Amino acid sequence: MPELAHATTRLALLGGDRAVPKDSVGGTWPLVTTADEQAVLRVLREGPLNAASPGEREVGGLERAWAQATGTRHCVAVASGTAALHLALRGCGIGPGDEVIVPALTMNATAHAVCAAGATPVFADVDPDTYTLDPRSAAAVCGPRTAALLPVHLHGLPADMRALDELAGRRGVPVVEDAAQAHGAQLDGRRVGALGKAGCFSLHPHKNLPSCGEGGLITTDDDSLHEQLVRLRNFGELEPTGARSYIAHRAALNARITPMAAAFTRSQLARFDDYARRREPGIRRFLNRLAQLPGLRVPQVPAGRTHAWHILRLMPDPEAFGLGPEHRCALRAALHRILRAEGVPVSRYQVAPLAAQPAFRPPGASPADAADQVDALLPVTVAVVDGSLCLQRRHLDPAAGPLLQSYADAFEKVWQNLELVRRMATSRSAPGWREALRQG
Ligand SMILES: Cc1ncc(COP(=O)(O)O)c(C=O)c1O
Repeated sequence: MPELAHATTRLALLGGDRAVPKDSVGGTWPLVTTADEQAVLRVLREGPLNAASPGEREVGGLERAWAQATGTRHCVAVASGTAALHLALRGCGIGPGDEVIVPALTMNATAHAVCAAGATPVFADVDPDTYTLDPRSAAAVCGPRTAALLPVHLHGLPADMRALDELAGRRGVPVVEDAAQAHGAQLDGRRVGALGKAGCFSLHPHKNLPSCGEGGLITTDDDSLHEQLVRLRNFGELEPTGARSYIAHRAALNARITPMAAAFTRSQLARFDDYARRREPGIRRFLNRLAQLPGLRVPQVPAGRTHAWHILRLMPDPEAFGLGPEHRCALRAALHRILRAEGVPVSRYQVAPLAAQPAFRPPGASPADAADQVDALLPVTVAVVDGSLCLQRRHLDPAAGPLLQSYADAFEKVWQNLELVRRMATSRSAPGWREALRQG
């Protein structure tokens, strides 16, 4: 066990000093600069305010910049990450009667996009080391109606695209990447978004590449998919070369991004690589310290991949606390209480596997049957959802290094009190995902 940098091992929950001082600085995300404000003001003052207006240039500028950043031929900017996924699937011809393989551990938007395209999400388990779609589990749930794979580069780590590509190749179906959380992450030197038939990004303000509201980006090397995407985001109309035709060539919707959001993201993009480079050492130092704590699994980065560190997921092993797997939820809840009292803003990211949620249950399946299926088929997702804690947003500030060091102090302090943690976890039970579903 490393020496404690902090003066006391008495937990803040029991009246000790907080490991993370209340007046700690850093940890703001997104960072909005004068340049970002001016970019938005320029659009507000000079217009056009709508992406379909003649002369609009922010959206095209953002698309060219992101295509270049990802090394793809095309980029289409849209209204949100969910819209990006929905349009990409429809552009690939996915529709009613089709099944799309998605990981059971992801933001619900991944599955919503499949449903919005008229297809059915089929859930596969995630890998216990990377939390991304497990290719073996994906292969096991593929069937005659499988029409696409939709891996998620969850928390910023590229999914195992080599194995998934191979699976998709065998089945003759496309891979659409959900890269909503993984801007800039790489696999074998190629950036996500350039790894599948289409790559889908979110520009939600909390993402690594934020907009000032909502937005999404779709990347592709495929010229005809690009043409479809342009139509699908704008009422099925052809890209106007002059005046708009208002002729709908396919059923579509309005999924345009606003020029203000595009201008803001373009301005952020100018600093994107610099921020990524500057946040990396602080996050690595933090995770290296946590990796010394017995029984705490920190994010893994397999060879050939880089991590965008969008979310940091931490998985305590009950055994290290002298506990059995039945105490997984109680251990997570105890650590949650103790760490938050120390000033570490740990949170949960996903509280129930998607496959058990009312929106995505197989038609006709009772809640109890769906839950039993989840336990049987998605054991890793269940363990991760019930047993892990996450850090979100604050570490994205490139100046968050010292703050992260104080978080590491807090973890080390907690690990000096393992017996107390153990007692808390055994004296008080905590709700697992089944209860979360009942209460939600
Ligand atoms: C993995 C994943 N997919 C899709 C989305 C949807 O993106 P948006 O919120 O921009 O619609 C998100 C956003 O949180 C996400 O995390």
